Amino acid sequence: MAGYNDHFKNSEGSDKKRRSILALSRSFYINTYGCQMNEYDSERLASFFAAMGFTQAETPEEADYALVNTCSVREKPHHKVSSELGRLKKIRRKNPELKIGVCGCVAQQDGEALLKRYPQTDFVLGTDAIARIGEAVELVEKGEKVCFTEFEGGELKVPVFGRQTGCSAFITIMKGCDNFCSYCIVPYVRGREKSRHAAEILDEIRFLADKGVKEITLLGQNVNSFGKNLDENINFTELLYRVNNISGIERIRFVTSHPKDFSDELIYAMRDLDKVCESLHLPLQAGSSDVLKRMNRKYTYGEYRDKVLKAKELVPSLALSSDFIVGFPGETAEDFEMTLAAMEEIRYESLFAFAYSVRPGTKAEGLADDVKASDKKMRLARLLDLQKRISAEISAGYKGKMAEVMTEGFSKRDGGVYTGRNRQNRVVNFTSRKVLSVGDITDVIIHEAKPNSFFGEAAED
Ligand code: SAH
Ligand code: SF4
Ligand code: F3S
Repeated sequence: MAGYNDHFKNSEGSDKKRRSILALSRSFYINTYGCQMNEYDSERLASFFAAMGFTQAETPEEADYALVNTCSVREKPHHKVSSELGRLKKIRRKNPELKIGVCGCVAQQDGEALLKRYPQTDFVLGTDAIARIGEAVELVEKGEKVCFTEFEGGELKVPVFGRQTGCSAFITIMKGCDNFCSYCIVPYVRGREKSRHAAEILDEIRFLADKGVKEITLLGQNVNSFGKNLDENINFTELLYRVNNISGIERIRFVTSHPKDFSDELIYAMRDLDKVCESLHLPLQAGSSDVLKRMNRKYTYGEYRDKVLKAKELVPSLALSSDFIVGFPGETAEDFEMTLAAMEEIRYESLFAFAYSVRPGTKAEGLADDVKASDKKMRLARLLDLQKRISAEISAGYKGKMAEVMTEGFSKRDGGVYTGRNRQNRVVNFTSRKVLSVGDITDVIIHEAKPNSFFGEAAED
């Protein structure tokens, strides 16, 4: 999104002149935490600000409006909010005109309390209130404090909006979650499941394809629930078929699928649709079916394993990834061994793992958080260590093979080397005799395969 301000940076006028231009045109700054949906929401916020004539500032020090788009999924990101608001408070001492806003999941969760606890905050926008930013700015300009945290009923409406994208973009297709896993705050901060109309999603993707976007990632807390609350007869697989027909789009990804809803129909679609990439994020959370039951995940380890083995059989180059929680209430040493055994059996290419932390208002809040912090830490370290070995082994298998890589830019460390991703979403740095542009898709021979990145050379035509 850098770019709104480019003409200021490039203008030849004196500093004085530049300052007076900046004084006329107001600017905003957004710091985004959390998942891809928050990134998408920040892009929407940026488009609303741009429509109001604001430019995007690179630091809060230069901004008239500073926003924090927050995440409350675990204690750590939640705590970030207070340090971030402390930092903005200091900046405001130097610039008393600075307006401060909190958006996203902590805004939804804490609402008015944020205005009281952090009086430097001018406005709070919950997860359904992104489109009300203009209204909020108007009220803040009049000196009012604002808190919009009502959930909106009905379907999810997100009209196509202008954004500055590269070759790849996120698109929210549904939001909210009705699963209520016992540890999780998301159903409370994102509300009930709501889908967007297919026509609106397809319009947005066509719009992005016209702007040169080649890869899209369909977002939802639970993409398999897509379509459930719509008046049209459509489900997630059908949507994938329709997206696959959009010319200009070369790659389709999606997050997140819930294992209990991961269907054979979806596996067949992944096999049959050429643009759907061979990568699947299917969070297991724990290897013990007892723990899964208490987590309210609604599948056993055996059911999960059968589904992924089928998916791997039908989509042989499928790269699996997962999320794990260690130290859920009541998780015994044996339960944890089952998580390690599951990892050995499934063999994920990559994963995210977290120590359990209690979230207010969730079912698991009523369970004793009885795994010692030191045990959580040790289990997390053992899990990550095992994954390091598995990732290294799987990565080594890519050596000498050809990968289809979409160029995303130059490698950070070396200006002469391109960087991109293969269809399995692995980072590939590579050299090419041909000059490539962002979004070009090239076959690359992998010469070196490290656990987290590959190095190769574009194959000659
Ligand atoms: N909708 C996705 C995940 C959303 S949250 C899904 O259903 O899989 C992302 C990840 O955060 C979860 O998969 C889980 O591993 C982790 N997580 C959620 N709540 C947590 C908590 N209270 N403590 C630790 N990790 C948590
Ligand atoms: Fe949270 Fe479970 Fe919903 Fe995922 S499916 S967002 S983990 S409640
Ligand atoms: Fe965090 Fe909200 Fe996403 S809690 S993970 S930003 S849905």
